[in-house]
Amino acid sequence: MSLTALFLGYGRMGASLGEAWIEADLVQRIDAVDPHRAQDVKARVYRSAAELPDTIYDLVIVAVKPAMAREALAAVSIARLRNASIISVMAGVSIATLEQALPIACPVVRSMPNTPVMVHQGCVGLFGGISVTSPLRDKISQLYNAVGKSYWVETEEQLHAITALSGSGPAYYHLFSEALADAGERLGLPSELAKQLAAQTALGAATLQCGDGANFSSLRQEVTSPNGTTHAAIEVFEKDSALRCLVTEAVVKAHQRSIELSQG
Ligand SMILES: NC(=O)c1ccc[n+]([C@@H]2O[C@H](COP(=O)([O-])OP(=O)(O)OC[C@H]3O[C@@H](n4cnc5c(N)ncnc54)[C@H](OP(=O)(O)O)[C@@H]3O)[C@@H](O)[C@H]2O)c1
Repeated sequence: MSLTALFLGYGRMGASLGEAWIEADLVQRIDAVDPHRAQDVKARVYRSAAELPDTIYDLVIVAVKPAMAREALAAVSIARLRNASIISVMAGVSIATLEQALPIACPVVRSMPNTPVMVHQGCVGLFGGISVTSPLRDKISQLYNAVGKSYWVETEEQLHAITALSGSGPAYYHLFSEALADAGERLGLPSELAKQLAAQTALGAATLQCGDGANFSSLRQEVTSPNGTTHAAIEVFEKDSALRCLVTEAVVKAHQRSIELSQG
């Protein structure tokens, strides 16, 4: 695709996406506005929008913190936006808010990526306003599929659930790995070995879960012989559905928080 893209904000998330798209040859050129980013990337970084060349961009990716969205968009001139589609990666900033902040009408897509996009194993929830055409959806899916898997949802509200599940989800798995490694250390393993075992086990289990037709419950049962070691552990997790209740409570809290944050 011979696209020219402008990134507003080229921090952790912006640069993870932009650099991957350049490497995959999905964009021809990226200009990025970011006041403090070093020139250590393939994109051309400008300190402010006033320094941008006279380019008419195909895509404008808004990857600043939500509080900076209006300021970042207001700084870009109408001329540079006149052919652009907008992709936001910001949590909790609605399509309506973005449309109001834009100086001209542009198609707007919201995306909710997660940190594994940095290793091209992310998952991304996508929602587009009514002006988003089918070819544009395909183009955006192609971009996000370069850093993992992308999934369009039917309502903007569903992005709150995506935020609570996969947006925040990597932190849940990291916490479980911390707990598992700590438990291994308590059983006498060296700390580094316990960490490596926890991480490699997470990678192996996730790879099995992503297999064609995988069923999480069957995968678990395959490891769980009656009265064996796994069975002893699973009984603890499943007593009064303890783990499931905790996970549900935590994800519901994240969902509520996502809604609160979006209301300012
Ligand atoms: N990281 C994640 O897991 C994740 C997941 C999903 C969505 N997101 C979303 O991605 C967005 C960016 O997050 P991040 O983790 O990449 O943050 P980040 O690393 O802080 O990147 C944001 C960058 O934007 C720069 N910036 C600030 N004001 C600007 C302006 N007016 N114009 C242009 N650039 C400006 C910041 O510079 P300074 O540091 O100098 O202010 C910073 O380099 C957030 O809205 C977040 O909701 C992040």
